[in-house]
Amino acid sequence: MASSTAYSRPSKPPGPVAGDRRGPRLAKELGRIEPKKLGIGLVAGCCLALLTYLSFARLFAIYSPVFDSSALVLKNAPPATTTVPATEAPPVQPKTEVEQKDVTDPEVDPNLANLPEATRKEELKEAPATKPAAAATEAKITCDENGVDEGFPYARPPVCELAGDIRISPKEKTMYFVNPSGAGPFDANGEKKIRPFARKDAFLLPGVVEVTIKSVSSAEAAPQCTRRHGVPVVVFSVAGYTDNFFHDNTDVLIPLFLTTAHLKGEVQLLITNFKPWWVHKFTPLLKKLSNYDVINFDKDEEVHCFRAGHLGMYRDRDLIISPHPTRNPHNYTMVDYNRFLRRAFGLPRDAPAVLGEETAAKPKMLIIERKGTRKLLNLREVSSMCEALGFAVTVAEAGADVRRFAERVNAADVLLAVHGAGLTNQIFLPTGAVLVQIVPWGKMDWMATNFYGQPARDMRLRYVEYYVSEEETTLKDKYPRDHYVFKDPMRIHGQGWPAIAEIIMKQDVMVNMTRFKPFLLKALDELQE
Ligand SMILES: *[C@@H]1O[C@H](CO)[C@@H](O)[C@H](O)[C@H]1NC(C)=O
Ligand SMILES: *[C@@H]1O[C@H](CO)[C@@H](O)[C@H](O)[C@H]1NC(C)=O
Repeated sequence: MASSTAYSRPSKPPGPVAGDRRGPRLAKELGRIEPKKLGIGLVAGCCLALLTYLSFARLFAIYSPVFDSSALVLKNAPPATTTVPATEAPPVQPKTEVEQKDVTDPEVDPNLANLPEATRKEELKEAPATKPAAAATEAKITCDENGVDEGFPYARPPVCELAGDIRISPKEKTMYFVNPSGAGPFDANGEKKIRPFARKDAFLLPGVVEVTIKSVSSAEAAPQCTRRHGVPVVVFSVAGYTDNFFHDNTDVLIPLFLTTAHLKGEVQLLITNFKPWWVHKFTPLLKKLSNYDVINFDKDEEVHCFRAGHLGMYRDRDLIISPHPTRNPHNYTMVDYNRFLRRAFGLPRDAPAVLGEETAAKPKMLIIERKGTRKLLNLREVSSMCEALGFAVTVAEAGADVRRFAERVNAADVLLAVHGAGLTNQIFLPTGAVLVQIVPWGKMDWMATNFYGQPARDMRLRYVEYYVSEEETTLKDKYPRDHYVFKDPMRIHGQGWPAIAEIIMKQDVMVNMTRFKPFLLKALDELQE
């Protein structure tokens, strides 16, 4: 495990100051460049400064050094929630029932089979306490907003779960919620505003469309349904750092999996901050999670009616997910996520090749090449040694075609790369395969472990990590050996994210083959067990 003491010093969180200043600008800039990316895998070498700025911003938010000694302790306490059972409704309830019956279309009988299991349980549990017939029409809203996971301050985004008469008017960015009692987490105007992005990151939130849940006392106060859905809804945003493969998974796809997988496709997705290229890129996964075409919340003109749904998504740590009574009640694991990905992309291999005397097949190694920062400068040399040790080596850069790259990764028995988003591709490896992470200089233990090492273990991969020495980094060409970069790299962390991004994240590495070879042998060895 990474040493948490490294982060025990209370460091001034760079977020609030830098974030507040940059947030809107970043949002604007993201908005500005996104269309350019439309349909193109590459942003041609233009605006290098902007790209540098963006990657800086991304990194800044990936690693927020606000950790303390409890950083590695998962807070598993149930969230502070507001549940509004119908039993709390004032004496107007009988009238309410009548009203609600009046407006309820027989076609849209609450389809209990499609409700999230948790909701169903609650309703069953509460049914005896409520008056007859109330269970079918009761309005219920539960918002999980105050969860905190110290080491991962962005890990507990707000999410509301609703059941009852829900009418979504994307054009007004509003979810009308027929809620006769008025109870719930609403302000004086009967509103609850949420930016439904699964990363609680002040830096990003200004760029996320805000959606209002509006509590109305009767169906008459809500717009008429123009489209009724017999399945629950999830309204969420794909803003933020999407198009960085790590963030595609941590900020959207895994949260969506946690929130909807148990519905087995019987769910309608409404996406805001809609990016056609992003939706297209991940269509195989979206289709696996929802049997219905996604709806573009930013453009849609209808009033969509539902009996249940979520605004926002549940999210855990990045590539680490744990059981939780409300956020992950189905106890999904990363192994489940891997299986889901394999099925969605039709990836054939669940297990790596087993090496034995009688099989002549060479174990396959895929080396992910980085072209920007953190390059492996002697990649050729590494590759030749791997060949010499008996691996069949391919070298590739992760590209825009996710399925194609997923197939290449799934075909590998060993995946090797320098620390970076490319390592996220471990999610496509067959269970039991080996991940080799080369960790650059600069006390990167926390990041190496929490972003890729522990996830690999959770995915039941074999994991080998190699920490480069000061002889193996290009930082030695930039800083004298007696500089704190070498003598006390924790000082870089102490300076906050800008220093980490500028110094640590921008080095290249050249591994010492003598030192590295035993780690390759270990990778080979792991495959034989
Ligand atoms: C999830 O795990 C908890 C204990 O960690 C257990 O009580 C619960 O029944 C599990 N739920 C499911 C759906 O397996
Ligand atoms: C490579 O590592 C070996 C073993 O640690 C060491 O003896 C050797 O001096 C290193 N080579 C270079 C060029 O640093």
